[in-house]
Amino acid sequence: MSPLDTSPLTALVAGQRTGQALDRALYMDPAMFERDMQRLFLRHWLCVGHASQLPNPGDYITTEYGGESVIIARGKDGAVRAMLNVCRHRGAELCAGHAGTAAFFACPYHGWTYGLDGSLESARHMPADFDRAAHALKSVTCRVIQGVIFISFAEVPLEFGHVEATLNGSLGRYGWANARVAHRETYPIAANWKLAVENYVECYHCSPSHPEYSKLHALEQPAPRIAKLNAAMEARTRALGIEVATLTHWTSANGEEAIDCFRYALYDGISTGSPDGSPVAPLMGDFTGYDGGVTSIHLGPASFLVAYADHGVIYRFMPRTHDTCEMELLWLVRADAEAGRDFDLEALTWLWRITSEADKRIIEHTARGVRSRFYVPGPLAPMEANEQRYLEWYLGEVAG
Ligand code: FES
Ligand SMILES: [Fe+2]
Repeated sequence: MSPLDTSPLTALVAGQRTGQALDRALYMDPAMFERDMQRLFLRHWLCVGHASQLPNPGDYITTEYGGESVIIARGKDGAVRAMLNVCRHRGAELCAGHAGTAAFFACPYHGWTYGLDGSLESARHMPADFDRAAHALKSVTCRVIQGVIFISFAEVPLEFGHVEATLNGSLGRYGWANARVAHRETYPIAANWKLAVENYVECYHCSPSHPEYSKLHALEQPAPRIAKLNAAMEARTRALGIEVATLTHWTSANGEEAIDCFRYALYDGISTGSPDGSPVAPLMGDFTGYDGGVTSIHLGPASFLVAYADHGVIYRFMPRTHDTCEMELLWLVRADAEAGRDFDLEALTWLWRITSEADKRIIEHTARGVRSRFYVPGPLAPMEANEQRYLEWYLGEVAG
């Protein structure tokens, strides 16, 4: 903290202790939520979906972070662009609803119309000298990497080259550029967004809360057991002739985006995340067989990607208000895979649906407890090392 910065928020952040859960005010204070928005969501890269959600020109989706609504649209030229969902006349929201197809975006208020690239095409009864070119929708930086769409609200986005290389070397092996969204599910959560993300990044709760996940994934075994299972998985991956990139770069200290791309094993004999561990969809990308592994990617404040050999899951968290957020899951399969013929949608989505429903319950339980005036942050367990790392990074981002 700078000696001149005496704001109560800065003092609150500086007063957090390493190895402990956060104070109640970090979840409850609307001013803290505004700082979270400024330092995290308006500064970092955010995954907003998959390009297969916009197969044709005119297709669009919308997404919202703390009141900032964004339209992501495929233009006539085939390019995917992002723009603020805010009319340049008097600010009305242009698109309601999550997704649609449009030839142009018409403002419901006074009827200004915008092209798919955000340019202002018509503005009724405006003076002859009105400068349309100066009133395009505000654009938001947008990148598509291996089919995954990212946006950054920042004027100067954080350095992303190492992320792009890692996603190309990891998701590229899984064929995510040639995948499609088979199912989407959203979960409104009555909790501050941090309680939801903190829950995602630790697996201390996995065995009590997620028996289904814990039967398949070996993430919470003692370290020597994990090392042995991971070594066996890596040998199977090599035997398939595949090398999946990994990178742990969990810092934004030098203006770089934080990413952790790591791999871990399923239990012996488990092929994928399905009800009984058996294959659930056609193999993807370079995978000609099952290596019994998972590639897991944590990116910036609230984007998570999970890749199995035969399907993938995009996990996104969107803050709404200081004590509400939303979780969105997108299940990916090979682009040519058809439900009913190549996969069973129930079986495909079973594991992460049941896991997310349980997570929503636990996160909301936690939010109710943390709202108590008698709540005191407790010590983190060694198995919550990943959460500790996330919290240290978060506190660095919102400090001073
Ligand atoms: S607010 Fe959009 S046209 Fe007036
Ligand atoms: Fe969980």
